[in-house]
Amino acid sequence: MCGIIGYVGDGHDTADVLLDGLSGLEYRGYDSAGIALANATLDVFKREGEVSALESALEGADVHGGAVGIGHTRWSTHGPPSDANAHPHTDERNRVAVVHNGIIENYQEIRDELTAAGVTFVSETDTEVVPHLIGQALDAGYDPEEAFRRAVDRIEGSYAIAAVFVGSETIYAARESSPLVLGVGDEGHYLASDVPAFVEYTDRVIYLDDGEFARIEEGGIVVTDREGLVVETSIETIEWDPEETGKSGYDHYMQKEIYEQPTSLRQCLRGRVDELEGEIVLEELADLAVEGPVQFVACGTSYHAALYGSALLQERGIPAQAFLASEYASERIPVGEDHLVVGVTQSGETADTMRALREASAAGAETLAVTNVVASSAARECDHALYIRAGPEIGVAATKTFASQQVALTALACVIGGGDSREVVRGLRSVPDKVQTVLDESTAREVAAEFVDADAYFFIGRHYQYPVALEGALKMKEITYKHAEGFAAGELKHGPLALVTERTPVFALVTGDGEIARKTIGNVKEVEARGAPVVAVTDGQSDVEQYADHVLRVPTSTPVAAATVANVQLQLVAYWVANMLGRSIDKPRNLAKSVTVE
Ligand code: F6R
Repeated sequence: MCGIIGYVGDGHDTADVLLDGLSGLEYRGYDSAGIALANATLDVFKREGEVSALESALEGADVHGGAVGIGHTRWSTHGPPSDANAHPHTDERNRVAVVHNGIIENYQEIRDELTAAGVTFVSETDTEVVPHLIGQALDAGYDPEEAFRRAVDRIEGSYAIAAVFVGSETIYAARESSPLVLGVGDEGHYLASDVPAFVEYTDRVIYLDDGEFARIEEGGIVVTDREGLVVETSIETIEWDPEETGKSGYDHYMQKEIYEQPTSLRQCLRGRVDELEGEIVLEELADLAVEGPVQFVACGTSYHAALYGSALLQERGIPAQAFLASEYASERIPVGEDHLVVGVTQSGETADTMRALREASAAGAETLAVTNVVASSAARECDHALYIRAGPEIGVAATKTFASQQVALTALACVIGGGDSREVVRGLRSVPDKVQTVLDESTAREVAAEFVDADAYFFIGRHYQYPVALEGALKMKEITYKHAEGFAAGELKHGPLALVTERTPVFALVTGDGEIARKTIGNVKEVEARGAPVVAVTDGQSDVEQYADHVLRVPTSTPVAAATVANVQLQLVAYWVANMLGRSIDKPRNLAKSVTVE
């Protein structure tokens, strides 16, 4: 998830428009930034770090004037943050500069082919294949537009791409599964990943669809389809509060991040699922050989994902256990050379998790970081890294990163566990659409309104839904400041049942209609008999609704996928209760996003 911006026109200073635009897009990525200005020459400026680092680098440079330019703010997926990996990328003769948001699935194959043809790559990114493909097409005599089209035709995956050429005042752009919006101004035209990038200049926009190309010139914008046929477009006028830039119209980053989950989950899965073969492919873990038990170390929400990951491995016959990273050392857990220790950490910087990983490594264990941040401490220090590709998460309460951790750990379990993964693959493939259905149809807001004054909230689930019960309670605590607890459903009767009253709603996670669902329904009956309101999160396969006061419906999924899908309902309930209570949702009191002290 990166941000791109482009401008053609002489009404404004191009470099200023690009830098303003990048600031408005920093919520999409902030590990490096760059711009390219096309005139008689093609000038590229880029820096590792936030947009401010690029601005400082440009002070005193001759970047003002000029009519056309593109810019990029990066969230790394291939190659760590560095000046070289920052966009824009160029061909070897500096004739074309390209910015890209998305993931090019077949980049390795193209890179190998180009390298064999004598092309020298200067970055580790997937994107760099595009300017070199364009360069090859220019060498073959194609004009810039055709060269751009031919390059885009070669790539597979997700992309919003923009390119500028030396000596040309046109931006060429294309979109497939990554957002791209065009801005129609009186003094030039714009293109960006999201409206905040140019909203101070124009409120008239054209949304590009998948498979469409755009040619943007000062004189106008032409949109075409894959065959080159002109597509009729409509210009929409948007209402936008500049104060809300970055939140894309949502009230809070947390809400936006909950709604981004279908996209972030697709991004996590992209290039990793071979549906035809029923296989998961994690290229980055090609040299990972697991010979002994697997231990997970993690904190908070990531610990809940780790519990889920260990359940997945146990199901496949692999001895696995999840530990709270802060307890790992004190518990003196036996660990040695035959172990794989997996640190699950969104930020890749959590001190407790780092300490546990270091101790495991010192004991000779192989280590793997499952993280969202490329080149984070965990990624650098571990023997292997698996990126969850959720994009930046600004809200302190983890939401989309938990979902992506679940999906990445499911993929990991298939790779480590071997065997037939067809059902899991089918389930994983369907998760983004099912999450979208929940987001479109959820009645969580009404449930929140009903229980906003409750004394406490309890969450129960079994097996894969047990970590979801814990996570549902943690989300509720963090952002509402109210008492919430998650329990393994079978544990209620061993103590917590004493807490249950008519003022403590119990959220029961009941998906499928097998033994696990039946047993959880038994526990639901126990709380119902004590007068507690029951909210069933269910796919309707069992008869739990009979015993529930409210239902939060989820689409039917495979057991593994059901945990990710059901969790979204609990995120929404917590969000709406906190919203109704007027809490500081994105920055809850006493909490920080990345905890770098033990
Ligand atoms: C809860 C939350 C925290 C983190 C925990 C670990 O919403 O965000 O519980 O999950 O602090 O952080 P990471 O995953 O960065 O190691």
